[in-house]
Amino acid sequence: MKHPIAILISGRGSNMRALAEACAGEDYPARVALVLSNVKDAAGLAWAAERGIKTATVEHKAYGGDREAFERALDREISASGASFVCLAGFMRVLTPWFIDTYRGRLINIHPSLLPAFPGLHTHRRALEAGVAVHGCTVHHVIAHVDAGEIIQQASVPVLPDDTEDTLAARVLVEEWRLYPEALRRALPKG
Ligand code: GRF
Repeated sequence: MKHPIAILISGRGSNMRALAEACAGEDYPARVALVLSNVKDAAGLAWAAERGIKTATVEHKAYGGDREAFERALDREISASGASFVCLAGFMRVLTPWFIDTYRGRLINIHPSLLPAFPGLHTHRRALEAGVAVHGCTVHHVIAHVDAGEIIQQASVPVLPDDTEDTLAARVLVEEWRLYPEALRRALPKG
């Protein structure tokens, strides 16, 4: 059985693409029921729509500061699509406990560092500043604490002497595309 998933994005959507491409495989245990964005011109939306994947936009701006009302609108779109599992893929909104509780155990995220190192933003710059020799990415369950939650799988890359933020980010991103489909497969309910 293919589990219907929703992928939440805010921009480029390259991790969404990696997931959608994996889902296109006959033996992969998930299918993309919805690509949902909080930004109407997110590049990933056009890519998904061109491939016949259902897309939707719920703009957080339309809800002023009411985060839970925004999330209830997200939840309505996800439920309407039939998706029972949610993958955050560059979704740039912090979620409230209400949404996290609603999707407990069915909500995962990809983060561009080897958590618990470098939660939050600018992970590649911070990794370079810290002088680490190894960097990478993490797929984890989402809990109310940002970039925490049980780790599902990680991938590492070496930090090279002449790395810039951009070269390091690019090396990590290639690993993200490989990691996310593998980790999702692990995290899906069995059967
Ligand atoms: C990725 O580096 C992801 O780990 C982080 O945001 C970035 C999103 O990139 N959460 P993309 O939109 O998937 O290309």
